[in-house]
Amino acid sequence: MKHNKKEETGDSFILRGKKLTDRLRQEQTLPDAEFKELLEMDEEAVLDYLSQNARQVREQYYGSKIYIRGLIEFTNYCRNNCYYCGIRRGNRSVQRYRLQPEEIYQCTDEGYELGFRTFVLQGGEDIFFTKERLGEIIRHIKNRHPDCAVTLSFGEWEKEAYQYWKECGADRYLLRHETASEVHYALLHPDEMSFVRRRQCLQWLKEAGYQTGAGFMTGSPGQTTDTLLADLRYLEQLQPHMAGIGPFLPQHETPFASQPAGSLHMTLKLLAVLRLMFPKILLPATTALGTLHEKGREMGILAGANVIMPNLSPKSVREKYQLYDNKVISGDESAQEVRRLASHMRAIGYDICYERGDSLMTEC
Ligand code: 5AD
Repeated sequence: MKHNKKEETGDSFILRGKKLTDRLRQEQTLPDAEFKELLEMDEEAVLDYLSQNARQVREQYYGSKIYIRGLIEFTNYCRNNCYYCGIRRGNRSVQRYRLQPEEIYQCTDEGYELGFRTFVLQGGEDIFFTKERLGEIIRHIKNRHPDCAVTLSFGEWEKEAYQYWKECGADRYLLRHETASEVHYALLHPDEMSFVRRRQCLQWLKEAGYQTGAGFMTGSPGQTTDTLLADLRYLEQLQPHMAGIGPFLPQHETPFASQPAGSLHMTLKLLAVLRLMFPKILLPATTALGTLHEKGREMGILAGANVIMPNLSPKSVREKYQLYDNKVISGDESAQEVRRLASHMRAIGYDICYERGDSLMTEC
């Protein structure tokens, strides 16, 4: 028999990766050293095994259901200047827009007709939308569509604003923590932005009673196994209802224009790891993943994701909301094509679910 040393070593890595996966599935956590070991393995067979386990775990709670959310990018004005983001205030070449309330309602009406029962209002931190102005919009949407959930993805505000929007009817809030390492945070953001305040905001959101989502980019400049481990530990502590994980993608007019994109492999691995850590979590296969690879969304679902957020924004503004280059805005990414998305999901064994899709993590 031929003896292949390299293969043998490879096999033992794979065996080890499977062991770590089994333990993670069993205990929903790992000690630091084991987590790091797993994060550093790049064998496809290990990712396959992780994904297979993630699918099984998700199926226990969600069967074959994939939830959809209609994403409305209501403003690309932003007071912040994050180094990675295409709509940072320092980017002079962005054509800025903000939707009128009536335009937002047209989006929700169209989305409702298409079958969406969650609307995600996502925007840059635009001070035009005061507590009262946004509150009015939330109230109006909830009056118009009382059977729908409203999710906000609108950045950092005062505790009072979060509470007020909750009283107006908002149900969920997405605020990625971006990184749980203070040093890494300072590498991604200018000094005026605060690591502590970001985490404070997430705390306030939970206290205000939102189903809360945190998350981070994979492969952002300066990310290491240690910062990723810190992210996992932070999520363990926060116990978010949702987590947004997608690859960093460079945008040509940002300070990170020439940085490499995050990898498909690492993004899929983290999705699977998060599913094993938080079996009931709502985990989107993000637009960034769909941009990185043509089949990215399907791959994300097959690695344990269970949410897709097609774009419901007016077509005329979609290309102005470019957090990164080449953002996909058509095909499965477009809310209008949700039937096609459904057939793509069906082809890999999943079903689009037209319910609100609230968090099952009620104990949080
Ligand atoms: N690549 C990938 N994701 C990005 N985001 C912002 N800029 C980029 C980029 N260049 C993510 C951030 C933010 C979310 C709305 O989009 O994580 O929280």
